[in-house]
Amino acid sequence: MHNFLRTRRSIRRFTSGTIDRDVLNRIIETATYAPSAHNRQPWRFAVLTHPEAKFRLSELLSKDFRTDLAVDGMSETEIKYRINRSKSRINESPVVIILCMDLSEMDVYPDAKRTTAERTMAIQSVAAAGLLLQLAAHAEGLGSVWTCAPLFSPNTVISALELPASWEPMAMFFLGYSTQVPKEKPMKAPYDVVKFL
Ligand SMILES: Cc1cc2nc3c(=O)[nH]c(=O)nc-3n(C[C@H](O)[C@H](O)[C@H](O)COP(=O)(O)O)c2cc1C
Repeated sequence: MHNFLRTRRSIRRFTSGTIDRDVLNRIIETATYAPSAHNRQPWRFAVLTHPEAKFRLSELLSKDFRTDLAVDGMSETEIKYRINRSKSRINESPVVIILCMDLSEMDVYPDAKRTTAERTMAIQSVAAAGLLLQLAAHAEGLGSVWTCAPLFSPNTVISALELPASWEPMAMFFLGYSTQVPKEKPMKAPYDVVKFL
């Protein structure tokens, strides 16, 4: 009965086939049906379909990535390999979606405890939209993967794509038609992660 939900898997390799604009619109619209704290719908989507936009993003993100890898003490050969892989993932993905969070309509509090809780609620709401986006892509016969690179370079993403300053980049999704059969993944047993009372 839950087979559709259980068969969504992360897909990292795609055909060069483009995604029809109506299909893309439907996926994003379905993502906006996610639940959100106070129904404030803090999700925002930057959708990259043009090679030029993907190229600009990949070039600028790779500069930040290089800095981080150098701090880790990685060899130049390994850095080049990782950067090339990261660039081609962006450039070869038929569609790249940057999922952002906009806190401007969330509640504002004078204290740190409630400010943190409100931010967490917004993050949880945006994550719900992220999952729905992946499930909607799955429903359209598309593969997708959620990646976290924008978390390490939020300002770079905002300036590369000229996004509003209030759009905080939270995740980057790659979408396309899959060329991959995902391997079985290790799963925790339900009873290891559940406590019934
Ligand atoms: C918050 C989050 C961040 C992730 N970041 C990455 C990432 O940076 N690169 C990547 O290849 N996959 C990333 N993934 C995908 C996970 O690796 C994947 O969901 C996990 O291995 C389970 O596999 P499945 O999605 O096929 O069920 C991320 C997933 C989530 C939810």
